[in-house]
Amino acid sequence: MIILGIESSCDETAASLVKNGREILTNVVASSAELHQKTGGIIPEVAAREQLRCIIPVINEAIGDNIKKIDAIAITVGPGLIGSLLVGVETAKTLSFSLSIPIIPVNHLKAHLYANFLIEGNGESVTPQFPAIGLVVSGGHTDLVLIKDHHLFEHIGSTRDDAAGECFDKVARLLELGYPGGPAIAKIAETGDSSSYKLPHPMIDQDNYDFSFSGLKTAVLNLVKKEEKINRPSLAASLQQTIANVLLNKLEKAVSHYRPKSILLAGGVTANKTLRETIEKKYKNKHIDLFIPPLKLCTDNATYVASCAYYNQNPLPLAKIIANPGLAINEVIE
Ligand code: KG4
Ligand code: ZN
Repeated sequence: MIILGIESSCDETAASLVKNGREILTNVVASSAELHQKTGGIIPEVAAREQLRCIIPVINEAIGDNIKKIDAIAITVGPGLIGSLLVGVETAKTLSFSLSIPIIPVNHLKAHLYANFLIEGNGESVTPQFPAIGLVVSGGHTDLVLIKDHHLFEHIGSTRDDAAGECFDKVARLLELGYPGGPAIAKIAETGDSSSYKLPHPMIDQDNYDFSFSGLKTAVLNLVKKEEKINRPSLAASLQQTIANVLLNKLEKAVSHYRPKSILLAGGVTANKTLRETIEKKYKNKHIDLFIPPLKLCTDNATYVASCAYYNQNPLPLAKIIANPGLAINEVIE
């Protein structure tokens, strides 16, 4: 079965063909990040206008001459920016109608986790086993889920305020490093010392699976105001190690309580080397399968949208395919 995935929830416009939920045939991503560098963050109208401009070329490139082989269209319906979501949703509905192909609505946050089911080239062919603990760390969300099966996602924790990615982006703006903040912080952190600045580890002593990252951003702000000579590489290194420690702490709480067979990480922030290494080190010799997507599949793209639709085949009539900016990770689309 070949599924055409379409993704436009934030500042990327992406389309992909995936076979049987695992094999990536094509993967095309257009990003408007450069446009947002001038403003230090996304302006929703600018993102949506750019997506409108490039969605058809992106889909055309992903389909190539395979149009007759497509069995279904998978479309991200939320969460995300309303203007951006509408561009993808309305395009996907039009395609579904004109080609008479079923359309499957997809939850962007849940879909991120399916990056762990995909195979690239001669890559890993181990499949995640359930129950699994999933940790989605993206620009707008930080969510822990217990995955009992493809249709059984139990939400066990999330951020009470800023997402981890948001913390990276806001601190990068503060340090005048540009947008997107995560890669910029990671870059300058390479020459820094992560033990230089003692930053708070919000909520790690609390017996729950929730996070809080806004205090961390404020702590950095106070440091920058107070200290005359800030060592930016060391501050960046300390920040990313702190974020990695907090994420690992809550992940480990969930793992020791639920005893899953697999751990699935996903979301743009999982591209962070320090985070990957911190978590890899912890589970290296444990009897648990840890899945971290290849770098290219961490940030937004349409491959995992197609994969998620394959494993959750719930085609709906066009009238029920509706953009939903506030969709929660465990919300059923019906
Ligand atoms: O999943 P994603 O591509 O989009 C959303 O669904 O939000 O995540 C984007 C987030 C941004 O906050 C970006 O700064 C962060 O992922 N990010 C990183 C890295 N690459 C992207 N954060 C830390 N280190 C990175 N290497
Ligand atoms: Zn995302």
